[in-house]
Amino acid sequence: MPPVTNLSQYEELARAVMEPAAFDYVAGGAGGELTLRDNVGAFERRRLRPRVLVDVSEVDTSTSILGAPSTMPVGLAPAALQAVIHQDGEVASARAAARAGVIFCLSTLSSRPIEEVAEAGGVRWFQLYVHKDRGASRELVKRAEAAGYKALVLTVDLPITGYRERDLITRFSVSAEAYGNLPSLPIESGDLLSTVSRLNDQSLSWKDIEWLREITDLPIVIKGILRGDDADVAVKSGAAGVVVSNHGGRQLDRALASIDALEEVVCAVEGRAEVYLDGGVRRGVDVATALALGARAVFLGRPYLYALAAGGEDGVVEALNLLRSELVVAMTLLGAPRVSAIERSHVA
Ligand code: GLV
Repeated sequence: MPPVTNLSQYEELARAVMEPAAFDYVAGGAGGELTLRDNVGAFERRRLRPRVLVDVSEVDTSTSILGAPSTMPVGLAPAALQAVIHQDGEVASARAAARAGVIFCLSTLSSRPIEEVAEAGGVRWFQLYVHKDRGASRELVKRAEAAGYKALVLTVDLPITGYRERDLITRFSVSAEAYGNLPSLPIESGDLLSTVSRLNDQSLSWKDIEWLREITDLPIVIKGILRGDDADVAVKSGAAGVVVSNHGGRQLDRALASIDALEEVVCAVEGRAEVYLDGGVRRGVDVATALALGARAVFLGRPYLYALAAGGEDGVVEALNLLRSELVVAMTLLGAPRVSAIERSHVA
């Protein structure tokens, strides 16, 4: 088999080994999947402006994210149910992130318990969906704190699940029989997506950020922001970071591509918080583009899940190494030997 030379190639490798409905659950987007495709397409439409005759004899991809060192401005985004992707699930992904020296963000909808994933070490964040039962959410936050997770990522773009046609066709469901109850969420009905919709608090609003700040000292990162005005309120509500994200095109189809929403958010935040992006990152040049437009770091979703399917923990490490190699080439040829040297002027 030819070697994998870029992250997009993991998709077909994953399709070959995954159960079809599970593959479609991961691969699919909402509605006509326009935003899903546009996340990648919008990166591909950008053009770069390399700066020449800069000393690039040493290129350093390292950075810090919320004060923690990271070998590159890339982390692993929260993604649900990794046991349907690989038997080792989130444990494999977290170990891979620790080995590669990047942040791993654990989903509330993980198939492995918070404490077990924590044994992987590394810098870990915990993604939170707020239940109608606030006591249950508070308990999750306390468990994440006790297990050494360093930030809470509050996902705000999923009051209900998006209109996911592939799941309607495949009738994808995660049964309690097949996977057991999720450690953080009992799947009473046998159907994950409807359970999530039922348990998530659709009345959640900005005042609830105050509730979250009261129950934890962990920094709060608000994920799922596509507008400058929302980003401004997020910062005023005490967020230490915001993630520009459309949930991988899985929620509101026709929402803006993440990279197209980034600059408005960066302008509104005015350096008061860190700004991250997920959605459509497939190449080292995508990472550089997002940084040039003001992101502190980007998070990978599907590409690492496909690498997990194809090769488990080692597969995810390989994918991260591949992306770092591409990023080194991109930074070298852009004339930006350090992450801090990547500037707005590098993108047309
Ligand atoms: C869960 O967050 C999903 O997008 O399926």
